[in-house]
Amino acid sequence: MHQPVGKLLLFGATGDLAQRMLLPSLYALHADGLLPAGLTITGTARSDKDDASFRDFARAALDEFLPSDRQDDSAVASFLERLSYQALDASTLEGFDSLKEKIGDISGGLAIFLSTAPRLFGPTIKGLESAGLTGANVRIGLEKPLGRDLESSREINDIVAQAFPEDRTFRIDHYLGKETVQNILALRFGNSLFEPVWNAQGIESVQITVSETVGLEGRAGFYDETGALRDMVQNHMLQLVALIAMEPPARFDGTAIRDEKVKVFRSLRRIDAGDVPTLTVTGQYGGGAVKGEIVRDYATDLEKGSTTETFVAIKAHVDNWRWHGVPFYLRTGKRLAERRSEIVIQFRPVPHSIFAERGGALKPNQLVIRLQPEEYVRLLVMAKQPGLDREGVRLREVPLNLSLENEFAGTRRRIAYERLLLDLIEGDPTLFVRRDEVEAQWEWIDGIRAGWEANDVKPKPYASGSWGPSASVALTERDGVTWNE
Ligand code: BG6
Repeated sequence: MHQPVGKLLLFGATGDLAQRMLLPSLYALHADGLLPAGLTITGTARSDKDDASFRDFARAALDEFLPSDRQDDSAVASFLERLSYQALDASTLEGFDSLKEKIGDISGGLAIFLSTAPRLFGPTIKGLESAGLTGANVRIGLEKPLGRDLESSREINDIVAQAFPEDRTFRIDHYLGKETVQNILALRFGNSLFEPVWNAQGIESVQITVSETVGLEGRAGFYDETGALRDMVQNHMLQLVALIAMEPPARFDGTAIRDEKVKVFRSLRRIDAGDVPTLTVTGQYGGGAVKGEIVRDYATDLEKGSTTETFVAIKAHVDNWRWHGVPFYLRTGKRLAERRSEIVIQFRPVPHSIFAERGGALKPNQLVIRLQPEEYVRLLVMAKQPGLDREGVRLREVPLNLSLENEFAGTRRRIAYERLLLDLIEGDPTLFVRRDEVEAQWEWIDGIRAGWEANDVKPKPYASGSWGPSASVALTERDGVTWNE
């Protein structure tokens, strides 16, 4: 079924993602003996490098971004031997023949990883075609951004589809490579406990927070044209919504799982211009202190004024039987109080409390799935406080804690890209995003953006180091719900 390839071709091989993620991930797979034995890795980018200087570049990236206990001299040396480099200006056809020559025989299969500016997608695909690098044994992995709205995403998808049919196109959302994100599937579908209450009868609301402490991180131009909605909600956060809200798939494979996810995206209630003021909040960070460090406001970081949102909160609905009337509160932003990705499932209260007359107060159960930086699942349940109860029954909310770090203490946590690169090399599409998913995601996002434009929405300032603008608190408090902070 899945067929490993013998060659890997990396576009954008000298970029930031390659240094921080791709090269360290490939090295880790190599060091653990997980890469096909003869797999060669050809890097390409505009920079004028040869094999030797690309290997130096890769070694420097490993030095900087791999924890020192993972660096093994002989493994690094044998990893570097897999690497070669061909400089290429992907905007013209010239050069693709030399690239092909450099890669050599691809009869054993080729996987391409494209992490370049979107404007280069078209010329790159044309170049690959002209050089005969798009045949039936070639598959392509695409890194975001895949468009900035439905229309541009369709254009990109069309360009790619001319050369690569859907079953050979692997769209990356690195959140799907995260262990704890995949664990949502294990939790929901590997246990019989949750499913009977995993619906509007059992659940009152869902919160998803992806907060970051970082600011622009040297990508001011890109970020300012993108904003938090496109950068984080369209992809990562909606994937989390889908994994929480999807129906049980029949099997663990790319078709069954993605069929169920796309149904969730298509069930998202459209947020129209009239709903935007009550269902969405946008913000932009001001100056402040994050983790004790004084930081500057967005406009100063950017060196110009801007109306791009660095924070967004949304009250969403999945309009189907299972989720009828259950709000999904989403929020994400830069320069917030903490780095945290977390899902909070708020269950409904018990229908009748037997403790009320004895003074015992109950809190509805809550399930907290912490994806990062810690990895745990915590179920908050009511317990009786020890005592003789002369002054009434005392109940307290206590956590049932499942720390994945402790339970799997002996197992190394892998970078999300390790999983995704290996799946690309081996040809398993399950954790990649299908075209219909991306387009359904954009459709919903475009509706929100159109609503912002129609209402001339400007982001509200918030202090760096806070949890965003106060309007985001109001978004949930209006419904009697408090963000988990
Ligand atoms: C990327 C966004 O997709 O995800 C970045 O472009 C963001 O802006 C990053 O910082 C967050 O990823 P992670 O894995 O650190 O949560």
